[in-house]
Amino acid sequence: MKLHFNPASPFVRMVTVTARELGIIDQIEEVPTGEFLPIKVNAQVQADNPLGRIPALVTDHGHAIYDSRVICEYLCHHAGDKDLLPDEPVKRFRLLTLQSLAVGLMDSGVALRYETGLRPAEKQWPDWIERQKVRLATALDDLEANWQKELSSVNCGSIAVGCLLGYLDFRYGDMGWRDNRPSLATFYEGFAKRPSMMQTMPPA
Ligand code: BEZ
Repeated sequence: MKLHFNPASPFVRMVTVTARELGIIDQIEEVPTGEFLPIKVNAQVQADNPLGRIPALVTDHGHAIYDSRVICEYLCHHAGDKDLLPDEPVKRFRLLTLQSLAVGLMDSGVALRYETGLRPAEKQWPDWIERQKVRLATALDDLEANWQKELSSVNCGSIAVGCLLGYLDFRYGDMGWRDNRPSLATFYEGFAKRPSMMQTMPPA
């Protein structure tokens, strides 16, 4: 399998952590994108994903798969795994919802990074920036209050939350997401020590 890869992307990390937890990372060739900017087309990525987004996976049968959620589901299927994403419908859809919550927050975190880190200061939109910050704070509170049971095991949802929190530390080290969220902080302290997370740390 071939994976369009950038170590700074939390969406890519979700896939590479999942592959490590499944024990199939050796089957994936990581193809680095190099610098990956939202206003530039990467022709190699575009060839496999018409949205031009990463991650994109090409299977050994030559089929392109995206986005990160679908790739994780494919990897579980490929590995014959029923633990990270169980078949039982109540558990399955709860975990998929947790995964979507984390991916939605990654969307906000990455968009905020583009707006505040890359966009010229005179073009920035303070109300939009504020909205992303409020969305992050509100949904992090929800993770603290309502998802501790799901976060107590390794699954497709807890992997996504781990990669989200890793991204917040990576890009917003001073945001203080741990403040008033002791359960989430405890979850991440343990989760970040897993070999799959240690081996996929974003670059310094
Ligand atoms: C980042 O540098 O934060 C980033 C890079 C690629 C995809 C998403 C985020």
